[in-house]
Amino acid sequence: MIEVEDLWKSYGKKEVLKGLNLKIASGDTQVILGRSGEGKSVLLRQIMGIEKPDKGSVFLDRVNISQLKAAALLKAIREVGMLFQAGALFDSLTVGENTAFYLRQHRICPELEIQERVYEALRMVGLEGTELLMPGDLSGGMRKRAALARLIVYRPKVLLYDEPTTGLDPITAMQINDLILQIQKELDATSIVVTHDICSAFHVGNKIALNHQGRILYNTSKEEFARIDDPTVQTFLNNAIPNGGIR
Ligand SMILES: Nc1ncnc2c1ncn2[C@@H]1O[C@H](COP(=O)(O)OP(=O)(O)OP(=O)(O)O)[C@@H](O)[C@H]1O
Ligand SMILES: [Mg+2]
Repeated sequence: MIEVEDLWKSYGKKEVLKGLNLKIASGDTQVILGRSGEGKSVLLRQIMGIEKPDKGSVFLDRVNISQLKAAALLKAIREVGMLFQAGALFDSLTVGENTAFYLRQHRICPELEIQERVYEALRMVGLEGTELLMPGDLSGGMRKRAALARLIVYRPKVLLYDEPTTGLDPITAMQINDLILQIQKELDATSIVVTHDICSAFHVGNKIALNHQGRILYNTSKEEFARIDDPTVQTFLNNAIPNGGIR
């Protein structure tokens, strides 16, 4: 489904991705763990096609999106959606308008169906009745859920979550984790969840990878991951604060 091959990306003199390889099968919920600044968001932007690599390829359904020009790229990533690390709601649009934005922008379906899909997406994330609120009226957890509604409303087949639970209290974080699982099931999707929240990683993931110094060090089942006899993994697991970051 998703194949990242020998991916390199630098910004000026800073090398971020250094020959990163990763294969994700259809239907997987792939967690990517890694310390802050290791290039997790950069990797997601590459998989979404927002940025081009210096070298290497990203294949989505066997299509090498790293080589595509704008129009072909838009077509190839039509089924890919991302929950951005900062939420990225439009502050001057209501929750309903935010949720409907992509459907209206791309004229995906008639207005009546848009309204039904918006209602359904907001219901799914537990935000029914908030259509007329502004993002500024929402709590942090509600903003994340509104951003989730905006993501699922167009039913993508590949979902990219960048730190979906960071900054939320443990109970709200667990609600978001449950939503990720529910969405995965309902959309029959493939998901990538980038996080340094270990609880979240083990709750939602069926595969866990460690991004370390620009490469994927391990990619195993979660059961195997916890048993990896490597100080880099164990230090990471032992020093991680649930729903937080790294001490
Ligand atoms: N557009 C850019 N221009 C310059 N440097 C960048 C750019 N994007 C990312 N970087 C740098 O690349 C490195 C990796 O950034 P990235 O945002 O991927 O980290 P991350 O692993 O997602 O960290 P966090 O867990 O804190 O979100 C950082 O040093 C960052 O400053
Ligand atoms: Mg990040």
